Amino acid sequence: MKVLLTGGTGYIGSHTAIELLKLGYEVEIMDNLFNSKITVLDRIEEIAGVKPKFYKVDLLDKEGMDKMFAEGGYDLVIHFAGLKAVGESVEKPLKYYENNVGGTINLLECMKKYGVNKIVFSSSATVYGDQGVAELTEEMQTGVGITNPYGETKHVIEEILKDVAEAEPEFEATILRYFNPVGAHPSGLIGEDPNDIPNNLMPIIMKVSTGEIEKLKVYGNDYDTVDGTGVRDYIHVVDLAKGHVAAIEKMKPGISIFNLGTGKGTSVLEMVAAFEKASGEKLPYEIVGRRAGDLAEIYANPGKAEKELSWKTELTIEDAMNDTINYLKHLKEK
Ligand code: NAD
Ligand code: UFG
Repeated sequence: MKVLLTGGTGYIGSHTAIELLKLGYEVEIMDNLFNSKITVLDRIEEIAGVKPKFYKVDLLDKEGMDKMFAEGGYDLVIHFAGLKAVGESVEKPLKYYENNVGGTINLLECMKKYGVNKIVFSSSATVYGDQGVAELTEEMQTGVGITNPYGETKHVIEEILKDVAEAEPEFEATILRYFNPVGAHPSGLIGEDPNDIPNNLMPIIMKVSTGEIEKLKVYGNDYDTVDGTGVRDYIHVVDLAKGHVAAIEKMKPGISIFNLGTGKGTSVLEMVAAFEKASGEKLPYEIVGRRAGDLAEIYANPGKAEKELSWKTELTIEDAMNDTINYLKHLKEK
């Protein structure tokens, strides 16, 4: 099966490329390299033994996309490409709608023109908004109370995919709602290497440990949680990558939706403690006020993916921390 990964040089896409290549899938990657580096392709080759064909194309470049699909002969697309900085999306909403929603429409048009009718989409737990409960299941109503344009783009794209599935009986779309991806490949060769100042917890912890950021600001310790700090479902990126393989092996006509998470919540201070234990170093932090739009506690109910995709997470927070520290060592040596 020939699979196109949009955004495939990025954090989650590159790990998924490796899992697919290991199983003998033919993989091609497109990316505009806005938030990733071309050298990721060499790292993928080092790990998986195959260097995927690469197109430096922007989702918004209709001509470039058309040319790629004309050459490609793809059976399936895994659509990772998108902008994901929540804070920037509040400042530049049009950029986010244009890139994420507009880009997806261009992609779907190409797929239709070239007869590719299977897509897996990178969605997010953010589409659930505030449900008033911590454990989230796929059938909950989505799209209410999303607090930023980035999250809105994920919801809108989910709705577009549902509409296309309604209109075209042969269309197969699997929406994967990721919880909080963390960790790196155990080889230490690939991981999350954001070009900009990050706003997610794990990349910030990484930059505090390297001294690029002075200390972690813990956003609030007065939530109704185990220790007052925010609780999330952190999923190792290799488990997440394997979730994509499980999803493409069980594609079916219409829309399928799965949470990809561990089912367990971990607090910010528990993450700090886990990092300190794995690194043997103190991680400087201070408690500051709550961050606008944050929820106290959310985690996945991953039961549907386990039942229907025969997939569940195998790796732990400790694995994620060890792999992150190993990856940081490799980054330093480069
Ligand atoms: P990433 O930034 O590492 O990868 C996304 C890739 O898409 C980047 O390489 C970027 O250059 C590329 N890209 C962006 N716009 C493009 C365009 N117009 N044309 C071509 N390429 C483009 O991010 P990631 O963490 O690997 O996330 C992958 C997907 O998963 C994204 O859609 C993201 O929104 C979603 N997601 C991520 C998280 C997370 O916390 N990492 C959580 C939920 C969902
Ligand atoms: N946190 C801090 N300090 C920081 C950064 C984060 O205390 O500097 C806390 C947050 O308050 C939260 C937890 O760490 O309690 C995780 O925060 P992240 O920003 O890493 O993750 P979120 O769950 O807030 O949001 C992430 C992505 C969204 C995505 C959502 C659900 O940023 O894009 O997960 O998938 F939509």
